[in-house]
Amino acid sequence: MSKLVNVAILGATGAVGAELLQLLEERDFPLNNLKLLASPRSAGKTLTFKGQPITVEAVSPEAFEGIDIVLASAGGSTSKKWAKAIVEAGAVMIDNSSAFRMDPDVPLVVPEINPAAAQKHQGIIANPNCTTILMGVAIYPLHQMQPIQRIVVSTYQSASGAGAMAMEEVKQQTQAILAGEEPPTESFPYPLAFNLFPHNTPIDDAGYCEEEMKMVNETRKIFGAPDLRISATCVRVPVLRAHSEAVNLEFAQPFEPAQAKDILTTAPGVTVVEDWENNYFPMPVDATGKDPVLVGRIRRDISQDNGLELWLCGDQIRKGAALNAVQIAELLWEKDWLQPAAIATAV
Ligand code: A2P
Repeated sequence: MSKLVNVAILGATGAVGAELLQLLEERDFPLNNLKLLASPRSAGKTLTFKGQPITVEAVSPEAFEGIDIVLASAGGSTSKKWAKAIVEAGAVMIDNSSAFRMDPDVPLVVPEINPAAAQKHQGIIANPNCTTILMGVAIYPLHQMQPIQRIVVSTYQSASGAGAMAMEEVKQQTQAILAGEEPPTESFPYPLAFNLFPHNTPIDDAGYCEEEMKMVNETRKIFGAPDLRISATCVRVPVLRAHSEAVNLEFAQPFEPAQAKDILTTAPGVTVVEDWENNYFPMPVDATGKDPVLVGRIRRDISQDNGLELWLCGDQIRKGAALNAVQIAELLWEKDWLQPAAIATAV
């Protein structure tokens, strides 16, 4: 085990930042010192950690001196801008943005799936896309039992994926529409309240949006299955903070739903929620604020012999972002993997 750790949260004033702060407190992370960083707009604000006020600082190169781990959640451009300074300061950046996820030199880690990948870091570890993490945690235990041949997934993604302001905007939109007024649309291209729309990321030549291709490429990287066939449809829905997904899996042989349920009942990070009699299954309101991915409606796909259907909900800000990042930080500390792999092997 390593010494106590100096941690900085970059993006401490955001939705994921707030959750990172709460998780470090809740999980009694082995902290020596905690630094809170955000844009100059937030410099001087105070946030509370373990009952003590901590003043938010504007991010600067000097801010990373003496820091062991930076939990970054301030968007891709901010991560790209500060990555070099963080690594040069000798810290490990656990990055919640998509900036480095597909970089072959950057491990993309979900501790329940590929913890060993974290050891190979060279100063940056990427936290996967939220929908990818939630799906991965739920289906990897099945994949280990019998390799998945094909995944077809549809997502129902909450406003929280677009940040704290977007969550606020959905509330304002709801109030505006109920008052017969024009809903504000700053975070989203269209009103989300009383509506839904396909995920608003750029669309490629094949007709898939960026969010959908993140699910494809990141799942392949995390599973170490570069040829896994995946097709995703990502949709924003007017839910505040937990994402839902309908997942169709195809195997080479039939996969008994009862066996899948047994496997998932003991799988790390998963809670099976199934009450067939009362038609009670995972819902975003039940997943909100919780750590596990809730999985239910595990059933045979009646359209093909080797297919399995399941439904899942998971808190986008917790396991989909902040919790996964904190688990990676815990892993680095527990295994003594804070030092970059190149340096660790050279010593
Ligand atoms: P700030 O509050 O000062 O703008 P969310 O994803 O919930 O919108 O949060 C984004 C987080 O990233 C906030 O903490 C925000 O700080 C921070 N952030 C945004 N842009 C920058 C930047 N250029 N430099 C540092 N932090 C930034």
